[in-house]
Amino acid sequence: MKSHNIQNILFSEQQIRKRVDELVVKMAGDCRSDNFVMIGILRGSFVFLADLVRDLYEHDIHPRIDFMTLESYGRGMVSSGTVRVTKDISVDVGGADILLVDDILDTGRTLTFALQLMKDKGAKSVKSCVLLDKPSRRAVPVKADYAGFTIDDVFVVGYGLDYDSYYRELPYIASVTTVEDDA
Ligand code: IMP
Ligand code: MG
Repeated sequence: MKSHNIQNILFSEQQIRKRVDELVVKMAGDCRSDNFVMIGILRGSFVFLADLVRDLYEHDIHPRIDFMTLESYGRGMVSSGTVRVTKDISVDVGGADILLVDDILDTGRTLTFALQLMKDKGAKSVKSCVLLDKPSRRAVPVKADYAGFTIDDVFVVGYGLDYDSYYRELPYIASVTTVEDDA
């Protein structure tokens, strides 16, 4: 039987806290639009977005906030990953300055799709913020405007990121490995 192990902690709660504060200082200037909307890509972004918006509040920034659920199919299959919307946003983003928030930028397919979707909906500008960036995995050339930490090609969990829907509640980010159990 296969199970999985939390291996080592890559970023502690304190390190994440400090980095989120730094990102917010950097992005605050860009958020001073009178039509500013933050959109979290579910499900992995919910913890990160919750920390960002409470930090932005300290900078007197008051966005409209919405979420959308994107799911990708075909990951791991050569150049056939496609993304679809399973829950769309409900705010009107016509003319808005949008900040997309995601947990991790991996192949880049999800973010590329989300950026285009927001443009198609008539956004005035679209920027992006991810907590983690795995540039070595990129299949589509896309960069986030703000990225917390760059990591190697390891599978990570915690702070919103999951393995099979587990571990999202961990306050830190850790790598996870699959192990063969003894019979
Ligand atoms: P992309 O479209 O390949 O960039 O996919 C990004 C999505 O894949 C993220 O929003 C995560 O949901 C998921 N993902 C990619 N790498 C990891 C990881 O190491 N741990 C957990 N989820 C991951
Ligand atoms: Mg995700």
